[in-house]
Amino acid sequence: MKKTAVITGAARGIGLEIAKRFNREGYHAVILDIDAAELARCEENLKGQEGFSFFNCDVSNHQSVSETFAQITAQFSAVHALVNNAGIAIFKPAQEVSFEDWSAVMGVNLNGTFLCSQACLAALVAGKGSIVNIASISGVRASTLRIAYGTSKAAIMHLTKQQSVEYGNMGVRANAVAPGPVETEMAKLVHSADIRTSYADAIPLARYGTTEEISNAVYFLCSEQASYINGQILCADGGFDAAGVGLPSLRV
Ligand SMILES: NC(=O)c1ccc[n+]([C@@H]2O[C@H](COP(=O)([O-])OP(=O)(O)OC[C@H]3O[C@@H](n4cnc5c(N)ncnc54)[C@H](O)[C@@H]3O)[C@@H](O)[C@H]2O)c1
Repeated sequence: MKKTAVITGAARGIGLEIAKRFNREGYHAVILDIDAAELARCEENLKGQEGFSFFNCDVSNHQSVSETFAQITAQFSAVHALVNNAGIAIFKPAQEVSFEDWSAVMGVNLNGTFLCSQACLAALVAGKGSIVNIASISGVRASTLRIAYGTSKAAIMHLTKQQSVEYGNMGVRANAVAPGPVETEMAKLVHSADIRTSYADAIPLARYGTTEEISNAVYFLCSEQASYINGQILCADGGFDAAGVGLPSLRV
């Protein structure tokens, strides 16, 4: 019997790479996404490959999540990995961020992570599974333009610790991966030329990460190799977090 991995926001980008990785490792990968057109494209691209399912779901909507996970758990009684990857970014100066912007970001990033985890918990307990929440270096280090996004990602990291304590008692591990910048549609949308140059200056490895590098971290945390790792935040960020006050002018 194949193991099951559920990945949210997986019709493209980092989520899609994670879904493909689980599939290659022998899991059935269940792909959830709000964007029906992107989901149809993804399904078309994966046509002929076994071990994928597709669900149109808005992770920020309680009813949508409940209905989707009811269908998933009717099909797969146990879930072995849940990756809460769906996320949106709105980058604006703090004084321009409306309550609608704030609520939209919190709705997908934070509420979505909470709702999907709660809806999947019984199936994760049945599968002795584990959760990986996708945070961000924007939740580790504060910056301009990210008052909503950065706060939502910091909250996801604490939610992960809360989950690791309570779900951990039920045998379900919870960890987070905090990626540095990765070249995806989201990055194209919010990373200006200026931001790109600054990242190259601020990150010791002086480059963006790849979707494969993030999927490696996620897969490791869900695997048996990480069986005693619970409640941790793994930064896959080229050393950005470690650099702290690593000003470019102080470089050797
Ligand atoms: N790309 C980066 O530089 C970067 C850095 C750090 C963290 N992240 C995080 O990685 C995750 C994936 O980002 P990405 O770069 O692949 O972005 P992306 O925009 O390419 O993909 C995100 C996917 O999530 C889906 N989605 C959005 N709202 C949804 C909702 N309400 N319900 C279900 N699906 C929804 C989108 O349709 C899309 O397919 C996000 O949580 C993001 O915050 C990205």
